[in-house]
Amino acid sequence: MADSFQMASHLSLCLCLLSLLVLANTETYIVHMDLAAKPTAFSSHHSWFSTTLESITTTSTTITPSSSSKLVYSYTNAINGFTATLSPSELELIKNTPGYLYTIKDTTVQLDTTHSTQFLGLNSKSGAWPVSNYGKDVIIGLVDSGIWPESESFNDHGMSSVPSRWKGECEVGFQFNSSLCNKKLIGARYFNKGLLSNRPNLTLSMNSARDTDGHGTHTSSTAAGGYVKCASYFGYGMGTATGVAPYARVAMYKAVWDEGVFVSDILAAIDQAIFDGVDVLSLSFGKGGLPLHQDPIAIAAFAALEKGIFVSTSAGNEGPALRSLHNGTPWVLTVAASTIDREFTGMLTLGNGVAVMGLALYPGKSSLSQVPIDYIGACQNDFNYKNVDRKIIVCFDNNNTLSEQFYNVESSNVSGAIFITNSSDVEFFMQSTYPALFLDLESGKTVMNYLQNLNNKEAKASIKFHGTRLGTKPAPRVASYSSRGPSNSCPVVLKPDITAPGSLILAAWPDSISPTIIKKDLGTGTVELYSKLKILSGTSMSCPHASGVAALIKAAHPKWTPSAIRSAMMTTSDILDNTNKPIQDIGEFNNPATPLAIGSGHVAPNKALNPGLVYDINTQDYVNLLCGLNYTKIQIQAITRSSNVNCSNPSLDINYPSFIAYFDANTHSDKVIHEFKRTVTYVAFGPSTFKAKLTAVGRLNVSVTPEKLSFRSTNEKKTYKLRIEGPYNMEDEVVYGYLSWIDSKGKFVVRSPIVATSLPSTTDTF
Ligand SMILES: *[C@@H]1O[C@H](CO)[C@@H](O)[C@H](O)[C@H]1NC(C)=O
Ligand SMILES: *[C@@H]1O[C@H](CO)[C@@H](O)[C@H](O)[C@H]1NC(C)=O
Ligand SMILES: *[C@@H]1O[C@H](CO)[C@@H](O)[C@H](O)[C@H]1NC(C)=O
Ligand SMILES: *[C@@H]1O[C@H](CO)[C@@H](O)[C@H](O)[C@H]1NC(C)=O
Ligand SMILES: *[C@@H]1O[C@H](CO)[C@@H](O)[C@H](O)[C@H]1NC(C)=O
Ligand SMILES: *[C@@H]1O[C@H](CO)[C@@H](O)[C@H](O)[C@H]1NC(C)=O
Ligand SMILES: *[C@@H]1O[C@H](CO)[C@@H](O)[C@H](O)[C@H]1NC(C)=O
Ligand SMILES: *[C@@H]1O[C@H](CO)[C@@H](O)[C@H](O)[C@H]1NC(C)=O
Repeated sequence: MADSFQMASHLSLCLCLLSLLVLANTETYIVHMDLAAKPTAFSSHHSWFSTTLESITTTSTTITPSSSSKLVYSYTNAINGFTATLSPSELELIKNTPGYLYTIKDTTVQLDTTHSTQFLGLNSKSGAWPVSNYGKDVIIGLVDSGIWPESESFNDHGMSSVPSRWKGECEVGFQFNSSLCNKKLIGARYFNKGLLSNRPNLTLSMNSARDTDGHGTHTSSTAAGGYVKCASYFGYGMGTATGVAPYARVAMYKAVWDEGVFVSDILAAIDQAIFDGVDVLSLSFGKGGLPLHQDPIAIAAFAALEKGIFVSTSAGNEGPALRSLHNGTPWVLTVAASTIDREFTGMLTLGNGVAVMGLALYPGKSSLSQVPIDYIGACQNDFNYKNVDRKIIVCFDNNNTLSEQFYNVESSNVSGAIFITNSSDVEFFMQSTYPALFLDLESGKTVMNYLQNLNNKEAKASIKFHGTRLGTKPAPRVASYSSRGPSNSCPVVLKPDITAPGSLILAAWPDSISPTIIKKDLGTGTVELYSKLKILSGTSMSCPHASGVAALIKAAHPKWTPSAIRSAMMTTSDILDNTNKPIQDIGEFNNPATPLAIGSGHVAPNKALNPGLVYDINTQDYVNLLCGLNYTKIQIQAITRSSNVNCSNPSLDINYPSFIAYFDANTHSDKVIHEFKRTVTYVAFGPSTFKAKLTAVGRLNVSVTPEKLSFRSTNEKKTYKLRIEGPYNMEDEVVYGYLSWIDSKGKFVVRSPIVATSLPSTTDTF
């Protein structure tokens, strides 16, 4: 499912993922081929692939449609191979054709801002926005549910003409023509042959790049939406809305359909985006539980990496359990989600004049005045629907039953409800269909004291909705739902990489889709409301924030590799919140968040433009890692698309800007030593000396050699070693600390997290 949460009325995306049976016996497969085996007689990949298919259908005994209709996609950029529908006997035959590597069955993909830019410290006076010229001319490609081109966020006012290197298109389709693109939205294409091949009888409700879900409109405006004045969601969050990189361009590749999402379509979308010339790819979805060579996003992202394209992905919404993330791929950015310093509020005023503030996002009428209020307790099993009509009732969530209580009350005829709760999931109930206000335990006590001390049962209260509070503390805090590391597909690389704003993010929404419904007053039925913006939460929302920051860095440093850009984002991120304390983890009772929740920290764009040092990685380094992980030559070849696999230097240590060491009890010595080698590249100007600063990592012995690195000129490289020594049977599950390289002028702090864990280092699927 998409890495965002929406209200029940928008769950269509997930419900449609149920795979349906297809034509008798034939199924859709993605076939990886070795291009080195292509006879020179074939001028193109496509002609070779289609001839290969013809050869097996003429030998096949089964009666099937003509071969031309069986080739669904030929890929040229993201993978070497094709998608085709094959019967079981044809599948066996294709395995014996020259150049065959392996097949993967086509499957569905788990699809899992007014204020967030200010929270990131972006402003027009100094820092990343003016320095990067607001991401000017960087092209952000999104693979998502399409786009609503008429949204004000995609107005091209003030933008220069489209760069001549751009090869993308505005594809014509249902309710979509080429004149809907402009200098902001420079491309819009759609991919559904895989969906239609898996479900041949389907009629698509919107056969074009137009967004009928809203997700893609939201993510693209978050990454690169232009300025929209007086934006709000029914009065909440009023202000000027803008994307993170307001002068970057948007190209939409629609592969996420209300009717289903298939790997073959996503591959086709990325294949095209690479060809078209995007600079940044923003992928707010993932597929968990797969080794790297079977993970379509990992494979396509490798091809993107080779072209210098930065790939930003969502970590997933399966937190807070450890090892719950997807996209734990070493060559992409994996983004966790956190809160910002903004709350949407309502105010309850009691009969005695005392007022308490709580959380609310009820979109309907803005106030309830002088309504009888009654304390119920837990609005649970024995909740009496009859005695609550036209009242404000107070429900107490004493046992983590907010969800049950919330829906019980929804089916009653209350005028309003107050929920007293310390649930970490309040944000998913706030956009309520009836007037609902969520109080913490402390404010709740005030209300309960007042009601319980009244002899007179005729107590009355008022509620005012549509409030917004800025500068709330502490922020950021990592969201409970945000998926946690370590990575299952590559445990030796610490994931996630970073956290970015993901909770209650306000961004553009299609005019035609109701973002929310409310119940009619006292009675049955609902009313659909409309808004040009919607508030969503999830790593789907944090991923495009990170994509926007990558675009700003790319605009300021066009020659930096994707790995250098990622390093700049990671080593300059913040580990303290706006109270100067360690960032808290909502999913872990507000204890300090470990790097397995927030990676290196919270993205800080102004610092990321000028990191001082970067940890760069080239494609052979990634191959060495795959060799070290014992991937076979064929598996590596499917990822790199080259038959020239060089495994002469296998290694589990890659030049990553973070460290993770495993102390599982499988070794037979009384201590374990982990050594990491790193090379940093100096990217500032003039001579400079950096000194290492280490914080404690549990009770482990950690050391760095040398402890000082001196640079004379830009692009000079220096190497150091980090050594971690510990007992073979570490008691703690996770301990962590930091290595920072600090320059003598105090201008740069280049920080890397160090995690040591007793979790097993083995993968589930390997
Ligand atoms: C598709 O439609 C045809 C003709 O109406 C029907 O025979 C076939 O069973 C349908 N297939 C599926 C998968 O629904
Ligand atoms: C494209 O669509 C828009 C809006 O639907 C319409 O106003 C315009 O005339 C169309 N342009 C072309 C060239 O068809
Ligand atoms: C709390 O919930 C648990 C599990 O649902 C249940 O067994 C227990 O009885 C509940 N306690 C109270 C006080 O409601
Ligand atoms: C909520 O409060 C209860 C006690 O009332 C406590 O046991 C629980 O740990 C709290 N949960 C959170 C997420 O703080
Ligand atoms: C709510 O009010 C409507 C209209 O008066 C009535 O039909 C319905 O049964 C009531 N629902 C409950 C749960 O009392
Ligand atoms: C790779 O295989 C070698 C030889 O079997 C083994 O010693 C090593 O532990 C394996 N590495 C990983 C990461 O599984
Ligand atoms: C393999 O890579 C190593 C560096 O990792 C290089 O020294 C060697 O020449 C390469 N071998 C081939 C055959 O390309
Ligand atoms: C750390 O190093 C000291 C001195 O070399 C040694 O006594 C101690 O046992 C080491 N501790 C661990 C946890 O390895």
